[in-house]
Formats: sequence, structure tokens, C-alpha cells
Amino acid sequence: MADMEQILDHKYAIDRDCMTLSRHVLQQSHSFSSEAQDLSALMSRIALAAKLIARRLTRAGLVEDALGFTGQTNVQGEAVKKMDVYANQVFISVFEQSGLVCRLASEEMEEPYYIPENCPIGRYTLLYDPIDGSSNLDTNLNVGAIFAIRRQEGDDLDGTGQDLLQSGRSQIAAGYVLFGPSTLLVYSIGTGVHTFTLDPSLGEFILSHENVQIPAHGPVYSVNEGNFWQWDESIRDYIRYVHRHEGYTARYGGALVGDFHRILNQGGVFLYPGTVQKPEGKLRLLYESAPLAFLIEQAGGRASTGTEEILDVVPRELHARTPLIIGSRDDVSLVESFIQERQREEREKTTWEWAKDER
Ligand code: AHG
Ligand code: MN
Ligand code: MN
Repeated sequence: MADMEQILDHKYAIDRDCMTLSRHVLQQSHSFSSEAQDLSALMSRIALAAKLIARRLTRAGLVEDALGFTGQTNVQGEAVKKMDVYANQVFISVFEQSGLVCRLASEEMEEPYYIPENCPIGRYTLLYDPIDGSSNLDTNLNVGAIFAIRRQEGDDLDGTGQDLLQSGRSQIAAGYVLFGPSTLLVYSIGTGVHTFTLDPSLGEFILSHENVQIPAHGPVYSVNEGNFWQWDESIRDYIRYVHRHEGYTARYGGALVGDFHRILNQGGVFLYPGTVQKPEGKLRLLYESAPLAFLIEQAGGRASTGTEEILDVVPRELHARTPLIIGSRDDVSLVESFIQERQREEREKTTWEWAKDER
């Protein structure tokens, strides 16, 4: 006969293993409304996509045609990897016949992809980056997937997804999958940020860290310093500052999701500023920066273009890019202070030159 201690010990383990993603979404929704049920089902589909992609990644070196380039170039002008195409298709497949999602807007597709049989009922759009950090794929380093869910507004009759050109404040859910030593799924529906770890023996994502909060400051600054020659002087001022002050450490993994996850947990700041070659920056607003900005604000941090909150930016087109400064509140503000200082000096110089011309 098991004693109470044994039963309680099992109870903890069983309860923990029962906190699946779909159950957690309903619990976070504090309701069983149709939208809560939809969100729970949407997250379950995203979890299925994550498991399918994780399975392929763990065997990529052994599976014919899993790695390497397709020889195609995508709408971003970037060389497409075979895993980009596979992962993009996985998201499409898990949402077909779901009745949930009418449209998918992906980094890998120029226009939104419609699932007509879902459109009369499925009033949600999934925006996603199916593989983030593709340059890490062929060297078995961490990659991710980033997603956001928005409600469809209007009927989008011309099939260009114009109603998606709204600020990130219209996201109803966002998150990412980190394909690392373990596969993590981090999400928010606006009630905090929660981390799930895939238990391969169960085939389920199990809650491993609830209500993640980012420290107000952290030691990590994450940026590709190879772009130093291409940056605005204000960003160089910030880099010179952290080079000359104790307490900072550089970490850059080449995959936004991995760098972001480190900063979410340890504090610090990730930057992808505008460059000479990409004045608007490299990262895409709708399915990279805005979903992560949604999360970081839920975790007590900030996300900025340098002059505007990321969540307030209204894109002019589906694949719009913005500079990104994201992480701990104090560290994002420190970067912005160098931008503001340079802007102040520029205004003073212009005023001085104007006054000189007037004399
Ligand atoms: P993606 O693989 O989806 O194109 O994203 C890559 C992004 C992001 O993950 C990463 O932070 C950044 O590109 C790295 O860019 P650099 O190689 O220019 O540093
Ligand atoms: Mn990406
Ligand atoms: Mn990508």
C-alpha cells in the first residue's frame, strides 16, 4: 500500500506532466469561451509544427536532402535553405483542415497563403518565420521559429493582406520555438510569458517556467560587431561605451531566437541596427520583431527601433524591416540615450549653421 508521501510525490510529478500547452492556454484565458478554445487549439497546432520540425532537425545529417541550399532566392533576396522550405510547409500543413486559420503570412512567401476551406470560419492569421537563424542550420547550431497570431479584419478580397499592416498591438498571441539541446516553446497571450519544454517521451510540451520576467539590467550585449563600419555614429558610441566599462559581455549566436532567449532569461540587450547596406535594418517587423516585442513587454522589458516602440510601428508592407533594440528596460534605454545625444548635437549644429548663415 503506497503511503501518503509516495502518493503526493507521484501527484506532483503527474500534475507537472499534465500542464500541457493547450491546458495552460485555457487556464491563462480564465475562460472556456470560443476564443479561448480557438487559442488553445492554435497553440496545439503550433506545438505539432514544432515537433515535426524538431524531428527533422535532429536527424538532418542523416536524411537525404534535409540540409543545404535549394538554389532559390526568397522575397527577402536571401538564399533559401531546404529546411526553410520544409518548415514553411509544415506550418501550412498543420493548419490546413484546422478550421482555425484562413491565412498564413511567412517570411518565405511573398504573399499571404490562403486556406479557402478555413476562411469562412477561421478568423485568425498566423504570421511566422519558419526557421530563424538559417545560417546556423548546416553547422548544427541552434535555430528557432517565431510566430504571431492576429485576428483577420474584413474579407481581404484582393488577397494582399492589407489588414495585416497594423501595429504589433493588434497581436493576440506571440511566441517562438527554440531548437536547442532541448526544444522549448515560449509564448504569451497577453497574460505573461511562459516556457514549455518538449518531453520527447510524452511527445508533449510541458510547462517548465511560468511568468518569465526579464531583469531590469543584464551583462549581455548581443550584436554583430562585424557591421561596426556600417553603423550610425550613435550606435558606435554605445559599442565604445560597453567596450570601456566593466560588467558587459558579448554574446552573438547568429540566430535571433537563441540570442533573444538568453537575454530574456539573463538580462541585457540585443541590437540589429540599420546599416549602410540595410538602412531599415535586417529583421522583419511582422514575424520577427513584433512577436518578440510582444513577449518582451509582457516580461517587463522593452523593444525599440531606437526612436519608436516596436509595438507602435505600423508597417507599409508585409515584409517591412525595422532596426531592433530589444531586452532589459535599462539597457534599451542606454542605447537610446546615445541616439538621442547624437540627435541633440545634430540639432544644435544645424541651428548654429543657420544662425551663421543669417549673419
Ligand atoms: P532568418 O534565418 O530567418 O533569415 O533570420 C536570420 C536573422 C536573425 O535570426 C539573426 O539575428 C540575424 O539574421 C543574423 O544576421 P547577421 O548574420 O547579419 O548577423
Ligand atoms: Mn529570422
Ligand atoms: Mn527565417
